Amino acid sequence: MHRIAVIPGDGIGPEVIEQALLVLDKVSSKFGIKFDYIFIDAGGCAIDKYGVPIRDEDLELVKKCEATLLGAVGGPKWDNLPGNLRPEQALLKLRGGLKVYANLRPAVLYDELKDSSPLRREIVSKGIDILVVRELIGGMYFGPKGREIRNGEEVAYDTEIYSVSEIERIAKVAFEAAKKRRKKVTSVDKANILESSRLWREVVSRIAKDYPDVELNHMYVDNASMQLVKDPSQFDVILTSNMFGDILSDEASMIVGSIGMLASASLGEGSIGLYEPIHGTAPDIAGQDLANPVATILSAAMMLRYSFDMEDAAKAIENAVKIALKEGYRTRDIYTENCKLVGTKQMGKIICENI
Ligand code: NAD
Ligand code: IPM
Ligand code: MN
Repeated sequence: MHRIAVIPGDGIGPEVIEQALLVLDKVSSKFGIKFDYIFIDAGGCAIDKYGVPIRDEDLELVKKCEATLLGAVGGPKWDNLPGNLRPEQALLKLRGGLKVYANLRPAVLYDELKDSSPLRREIVSKGIDILVVRELIGGMYFGPKGREIRNGEEVAYDTEIYSVSEIERIAKVAFEAAKKRRKKVTSVDKANILESSRLWREVVSRIAKDYPDVELNHMYVDNASMQLVKDPSQFDVILTSNMFGDILSDEASMIVGSIGMLASASLGEGSIGLYEPIHGTAPDIAGQDLANPVATILSAAMMLRYSFDMEDAAKAIENAVKIALKEGYRTRDIYTENCKLVGTKQMGKIICENI
């Protein structure tokens, strides 16, 4: 029996989580393992219900589970609340509270989706298989921030701050991952301008010495965002900070077809992993059965792999997704000519049937 905290959240969150749970139910019956779901309100729905993005007792409840599966939080309804009361704070509290400093975001172009990528065939023909390793509980997201009056006018600030140990631990995750992949780490920073990036570069270079079989190169973030479009096959593991990783992973998702395809695992020193698609609540398509549930379904697969050591079950889910794509099923975001257009629910059902 595995105890999972399930946080559907807002917008398309509950729609994609519903499909991921159906997939887990199928895995449960196929592999003879039981999952116990503890449903928790977080994000805008929790603000509406309790007046806070996530209650302390719910955070404690999450800590008593083995893993957390999250949809997405936020939406226009809550956009004008003060910063500390916005739905997105729930995410930061969860990530910080669980100390999940390593956010793994694999961006893989499936052969079947080559036409869904906006990049030209000649660019995608070499294949895209990138692992973004994003630092998740430091940097500008967690540094000192505030508003005050200076020289008679209002100013606001957020601070990018990284310690040596924070950089060391995330760098190790990237190098360990690269060892099992194509043995290349591209560390992305802005060391020509930012002092925090200069420290980042120094520490990453030092950690690289412990991994002689892994090639390291450094790239400025502006160039990296351009190279991702120009020649994405040059990248294996991208190691970067919280803010740059947020931005670059959205870009990486689009070159492999859609943000609706990208899963993530957030891991740390504790044993509780947090699993979520990289996309948000997609208010423009919420409630219309249009969302692609694959990112969340693949996040559930990552949960089986990293939290429950169920490699076979994780592979079964990933394979089921591949079969659905091979058979031509597409949600609207990845639809191309002559494919079979399906909604969120049907996509989930087809993937379940393939397990
Ligand atoms: P978004 O990722 O929600 O949407 C961006 C675009 O991608 C939209 O056009 C949307 O329709 C599309 N999209 C996203 N997921 C999709 C899916 N599964 N299938 C098909 N299309 C999909 O980003 P946004 O619009 O900038 O943010 C909306 C809200 O979500 C904001 O409140 C933001 O703070 C929040 N957000 C939450 C998370 C999270 O909970 N992890 C992540 C990102 C954004
Ligand atoms: C993501 C999201 C979050 C982030 C927001 C909603 C806090 O964009 O998970 O990528 O920036 O980390
Ligand atoms: Mn993001």
